[in-house]
Amino acid sequence: MPDKDTALLNVTGLKRYFDVSRPFLNRVFERQKRQYLKAVNGVSFSIKRGETFALVGESGCGKSTVAHLVVGLFPPSSGKIEFDGINMTALKNRAQLRPVRRRMAMIFQDPYASLNPRWRVSNIISEPIKAFGLINGRQAIIQRTSALLEQVGLSPQDSSKFPHEFSGGQRQRISIARALAGEPEFIVCDEPTSALDVSVQAQILNLIKNLQTKFGLSYLFISHDLAVVRHIADHVGVMYMGRLCEIAPVNTLFQNPCHPYTRMLLDTIPDIEKMGNECAPPQGEIPNPLSPPSGCAFHLRCPQATDHCINNRPELENIASDVKVACFQARS
Ligand SMILES: Nc1ncnc2c1ncn2[C@@H]1O[C@H](COP(=O)(O)OP(=O)(O)O)[C@@H](O)[C@H]1O
Ligand SMILES: [Mg+2]
Repeated sequence: MPDKDTALLNVTGLKRYFDVSRPFLNRVFERQKRQYLKAVNGVSFSIKRGETFALVGESGCGKSTVAHLVVGLFPPSSGKIEFDGINMTALKNRAQLRPVRRRMAMIFQDPYASLNPRWRVSNIISEPIKAFGLINGRQAIIQRTSALLEQVGLSPQDSSKFPHEFSGGQRQRISIARALAGEPEFIVCDEPTSALDVSVQAQILNLIKNLQTKFGLSYLFISHDLAVVRHIADHVGVMYMGRLCEIAPVNTLFQNPCHPYTRMLLDTIPDIEKMGNECAPPQGEIPNPLSPPSGCAFHLRCPQATDHCINNRPELENIASDVKVACFQARS
């Protein structure tokens, strides 16, 4: 019996650099060096069984890259990903990765793009069942597909339809059914409600939450919106320019945000008590990731930045037993 308190996923020093150099001849004639975009630049976190770890931050900070690395869609430049004690980064080919991949699934932001428009729902959902050889026999697969559709609030009759016959929310339900088909323990949800109408978002979030309780799932839940994360996460990691700047339990983060960037993100959430007050949009612009600022990457936008922050980069360190912050001001 696995220990409930041990981490299911351990990510250590994860980096992914993308080579965005100009073509070889251009570099030779224009005397340019190779250029790397440091999309994920040393990220460490862990997720316990049955827990939801949320990754938040503005667009471009590296959230989806972390998601793709975690499920093994491409390899990290360096760092380690351990799933249930298995070092995924040491697995060299697809065949070795397969048994671990079966235990994970991913739900994408855009249910329009992530479902094959030419496939019937029955094929979309049963594909992981067949690919992993989980159930044999046509009738048994049909039964399982019907059960999955019911679990996500759709009807078994929907299995003969095509994705375009559904609304955005229903399509995301199909993606969820497909994710569940492989009987995963761990699901990476990359902005699963960002493409949906506000009224539908809550329904999908509730479904994701209920399925967690029912199947004891663990989630890496990605969102650019702290408000979405509040009701679903146990722990939150705030990302800025490829690094984590704060990790804390969700209530602690909302009551006592320590990093100035976390406070900036929280200020953008409309507050019912302060109704009528405009909520502040995030201040300043995200710097160009190809030429990141010196020192603390946030110093250009930070109201508390000092000379020390311009010249030195703060490491992510514990300021309480369950709170980690990368900020010189938070420690003093
Ligand atoms: N395949 C790629 N090649 C080059 N740059 C990429 C690639 N994928 C992502 N990036 C860049 O990496 C950074 C992080 O992207 P991403 O992980 O998608 O961020 P997020 O999901 O937080 O919006 C961005 O600057 C993005 O342009
Ligand atoms: Mg993304």
